[in-house]
Amino acid sequence: MSGIVIVGAQWGDEGKGKITDLLAERADAVIRFQGGNNAGHTIVRNGETWKLHLMPSGILYPGKTCVIGNGVVIDPKVLTDELDELRRREVDTSGLRISANAHMIMPYHMMLDDAGEARLGKLKIGTTRRGIGPAYADKASRIGIRVQDLLDEKILKKKIVAALEPKRLALRPYARDPRLDLQAITEEYLAYGRRLSEYIADTTSLVWEKLDKGDIVIFEGAQGALLDIDHGTYPFVTSSNPIAAAACIGSGVGPKDIDEVWGIAKAYSTRVGSGPFPTELHDDIGEDLRRRGGEFGTTTGRSRRIGWLDLVALKYAARLNSLTALVVTKLDVLSGLDTIKVCVRYRGEDGAEFDTFPYHQTVLHHATGDYVELPGWSEDISDARSEDELPENARAYLRYMEEAIGVPIVLISVGPGREQTMWTEAGLATAPGQTVAAG
Ligand code: GDP
Ligand code: IMO
Ligand code: MG
Repeated sequence: MSGIVIVGAQWGDEGKGKITDLLAERADAVIRFQGGNNAGHTIVRNGETWKLHLMPSGILYPGKTCVIGNGVVIDPKVLTDELDELRRREVDTSGLRISANAHMIMPYHMMLDDAGEARLGKLKIGTTRRGIGPAYADKASRIGIRVQDLLDEKILKKKIVAALEPKRLALRPYARDPRLDLQAITEEYLAYGRRLSEYIADTTSLVWEKLDKGDIVIFEGAQGALLDIDHGTYPFVTSSNPIAAAACIGSGVGPKDIDEVWGIAKAYSTRVGSGPFPTELHDDIGEDLRRRGGEFGTTTGRSRRIGWLDLVALKYAARLNSLTALVVTKLDVLSGLDTIKVCVRYRGEDGAEFDTFPYHQTVLHHATGDYVELPGWSEDISDARSEDELPENARAYLRYMEEAIGVPIVLISVGPGREQTMWTEAGLATAPGQTVAAG
């Protein structure tokens, strides 16, 4: 196996950072292929916490090739701050490579994100306000600024003028804002270009080279399948494709370069921002799971909405991504419940049943879950290190999940720490990092 894609199988924050870090030990490169600093990927190692927004989650291995691919949108201030912070903590970031074709998030993108949300009022998407949507919109409109443009003052200035022109009306409230001064933006971004120039590369060729040698390359997704702009709960989605297919586009490889697709799913569901969430809990159980799971956004600090495990959505994500394996995280958070509910189908307003994910927004907005109830367990499982140390009911819960989704569970996570992880039998048979994890 050479190309492994790691994707979120729910609404984001499934623990992609933790799992990517774990697998990266055996990989030769880790590449981010979409999204931007709307992502917040947490790694906890030896009690130390790392919150990454743009940096691929392989960066904690000294000198590991970590690529920010062409499909990512980059806020250079966030990236340089992240680099500074990593260096301050004595992390060797020399393996970082940034695609010259990746697009930049500009100051006006953040303003437009804010203005767009304000304009939508009650209908707002609940974006991270990082300028993600407007940056991807400019990319599609072919007036985006790319990393390579930061290396040439004349080109940069011309492109900023062209990008600002159609936005004049929308930016009128910011007319006197110093952040919109053409010369100031140009100088600021040229300075970022100088700072980042040592990392800028033809990352597509770099990834080809690694794959052609048979090196292991991890494609690290951000967000999750239900936030996909085409296949998620539009318009309450992000502005990129967090599904596995985008790993190819966002890095420049073909589908045949992908050997494995691992979906990361929590043992329950969460969502940040607006939009349909059929299994959402509005009671004490939800409150308790939020508290015990520390369900507050890594990027914005917002409370995450909590819900029961949603098998309708997960089966949809499994098919959309061609998942070859499933990783279940946060199983520890479910400890202490007498019974655990699992959503097996949706029910529409008129009582209609949906065994598969409904494409129609209206149906989805009114859908509620039909549940099976499984017996819970009371034990603290955060110290379990192998499946046979888990209570029988926890194992039965995982088996139920696995059979319903039809994808083998390879890895189970029972805490934020790197060591709070166990490989299943299926995982030990197939996983690239298994000898490391087992030892
Ligand atoms: P990502 O965006 O998919 O990388 O996920 P986030 O890092 O935003 O959110 C996952 C959160 O859960 C982080 O705070 C992790 O440290 C934490 N976490 C990951 N796996 C587990 C687990 O198995 N149990 C618990 N309790 N926390 C976990
Ligand atoms: P990671 O990679 C969870 C959500 C926002 C909002 C919607 C659109 O950490 O899993 P955007 O700023 O992208 O235009 O916001 O998408 N969202 C995420 N939710 N995890 C993320 O990333 C997210 N990135 C964006 O909350 O609902
Ligand atoms: Mg996150």
